[in-house]
Amino acid sequence: MVNEKVVKLLNEQINLETFSSYLYLEIANYFMDEGLDGFNHWFNMQLKEELIHSRLIIDYLHDNNVSIKLSAIEDPSRDYKNHMEALEEVLEHEQLITRSIHNIYDVAMQEKDFRSMQFLDWFIEEQAEEEANANELIDKYNLYGDDKKGLYLLNQELGARVEPTNPKLAAE
Ligand SMILES: [Fe+2]
Ligand SMILES: [Fe+2]
Repeated sequence: MVNEKVVKLLNEQINLETFSSYLYLEIANYFMDEGLDGFNHWFNMQLKEELIHSRLIIDYLHDNNVSIKLSAIEDPSRDYKNHMEALEEVLEHEQLITRSIHNIYDVAMQEKDFRSMQFLDWFIEEQAEEEANANELIDKYNLYGDDKKGLYLLNQELGARVEPTNPKLAAE
């Protein structure tokens, strides 16, 4: 049995993860407009990863016989002034997602919903990785972004990012 308060928050988290995917599509499109196809590719892979996060929560609720409540996704359209503004939004957004996951964990703990706590362990670890990735993007851009050759190589490196996989399917 999953606690009712936790169910409500997990439903909201499905929305947030799906919004993350939509926001990264906006950023992918922005970088394509800027002629940076490698950055575009990286964000296209990232948006797939966000849909996997959303899917993991949906599957968890289904597995626990809970019906899912979908809701409207926020408008992700932005007007970035420069590349760094987009990259900084990624970090801020991932920090927001981390706070949201930690809040669900906190409620699960208060409600003694041990199953959900265990389910959320993976997300807590994943968010540390997501923030590290966002920080790495910013650091690399700061190091190489202002130099044309540097940016060309960074674009190539990001263009090599591999397709993400659903960790649950990979484990089966
Ligand atoms: Fe996510
Ligand atoms: Fe994320």
